[in-house]
Amino acid sequence: MKRLGVIVLAAGHGTRMRSKRAKVLHPVGGRPMALYAVDLAETLARGRVAVVVGYQAEQVKDLLADRKAALVVQTRRLGTGHAVAQAQEVFQGRGGNDWTRGRFVILSGDTPLLTEATVRALLDLHERERATVTLLTARLERPAGYGRVLRDREGLVSRIVEDRDATPAERRLNEVNAGTYVVEGEFLFPALARLRNANAQKEYYLTDIVGAAVGQGKRVAAYVAPNPVEAMGINTRRELAEAEHVLRARVRHRLMDAGVTFLAPETSFVDATVRIGRDSVIHPHTTLEGRTTIGEDCVIRSHTRIADSVLGDGVTVLDGCVIEGSRLEERATVGPFAHLRQGTVIRRAAKVGNFVELKKTELGVGAKANHLTYLGDARIGKRVNVGAGTITCNYDGVAKHRTVIADDVFIGSDVSLVAPVRVGKGAVIGAGSVVTQDVPADALALGRARQVVKPGWAKARREKAGKGPKH
Ligand code: UD1
Ligand code: CA
Repeated sequence: MKRLGVIVLAAGHGTRMRSKRAKVLHPVGGRPMALYAVDLAETLARGRVAVVVGYQAEQVKDLLADRKAALVVQTRRLGTGHAVAQAQEVFQGRGGNDWTRGRFVILSGDTPLLTEATVRALLDLHERERATVTLLTARLERPAGYGRVLRDREGLVSRIVEDRDATPAERRLNEVNAGTYVVEGEFLFPALARLRNANAQKEYYLTDIVGAAVGQGKRVAAYVAPNPVEAMGINTRRELAEAEHVLRARVRHRLMDAGVTFLAPETSFVDATVRIGRDSVIHPHTTLEGRTTIGEDCVIRSHTRIADSVLGDGVTVLDGCVIEGSRLEERATVGPFAHLRQGTVIRRAAKVGNFVELKKTELGVGAKANHLTYLGDARIGKRVNVGAGTITCNYDGVAKHRTVIADDVFIGSDVSLVAPVRVGKGAVIGAGSVVTQDVPADALALGRARQVVKPGWAKARREKAGKGPKH
């Protein structure tokens, strides 16, 4: 087997996106577009990948900082052919180390729907046909914008013509160039050196190597993508949205095939990085993002967003919750309308109810915070009951302070816990208390004004004013 190198083109601005940001940095399916091609490149040829960067090169380099791929900068963007030529230096070496005579796969940074299986099929065809150039093509209903594949009478590819250089008759052809190629290195680099930019865009087109190969009597093969959507290049925001749609559907299909129920799949928005266990049920209008892992037998109800969080088995998240950077152990229940922020840990079978916000807080096994509560920078023990309207006053205007509640504490409703403060095991805090001092274990703490009752006072006031019901 010949040496295989992969070149990814990611230097362009992507003018048609009308964006300040380089096209390949735009996220699709929750990840910057460029990563799809780079991932594919790295699976195809470990270690011998060159990525051509240019527009916003620094940001693209940052994105790929932990990758093995070599990055080359195309300082002037003179076209796709010029871009590939910049990668040559990455593969040059002395004697047995010269990779430029190997085989190359060329990928575009803007075709995130392309699959590994299709590129492997392209490589197989190239090998079988002993071709010099093999290109991926697709038959599209709306081929506008793409390079068209011209074939001779025998049906062999003769050249590619770009949309802007095409005659009206050529524009009617619906077989397009997908921008994915397999090329023999010993042909590729000399051919690139001979490219001319006499075309509508004054660019050095990579696509011209196809005509050049035919002219030299070399074999050019073409593989028609069985699923034309894979050929889709993202040039505009509309195409970005279409690709998003396709990628999201693929993710949901994979999850459904693995045993997850989606009640209205089209309305659930799931990143490719999310994992969900068997028999979990995802209700309509849910968003699951980033490094989120959901266990088995979980229920995620509508209008909930979960990001970068880990849910154990049997967790229920009711409607309208936002959960970020949190961990929920098995059989925990959250919502409706709860907000779990960074650093929240909900232990086994604990319960978070309506209009409750938690931040950097651990809620112990079987503990409950059921209504209208804010708990921040706190550790709440096992089986603690946090009464309705209870809050931790964790911020004094300068610094944040901790609240620590031991196991089996009962906190009445509407309690303010002024941190730093600790409540010992089994203590009871009376409703409406403002707790400013530590409470020992098993104590009752009351921190509120004593109630005053004046019998007859209200009636007397009514009579004085001469109105209201007389009893
Ligand atoms: C290109 C093909 C076209 C094909 C289409 C498929 C050429 C001349 N045309 O057109 O036949 O149908 O892809 O999607 O190749 N890039 C660079 N440096 C440059 C120019 C582009 O790195 O100087 C990169 C871009 O970042 C992008 C890729 O090359 O990732 C393709 O460039 P783009 O401008 O999108 O080419 P298309 O006009 O779509
Ligand atoms: Ca493109």
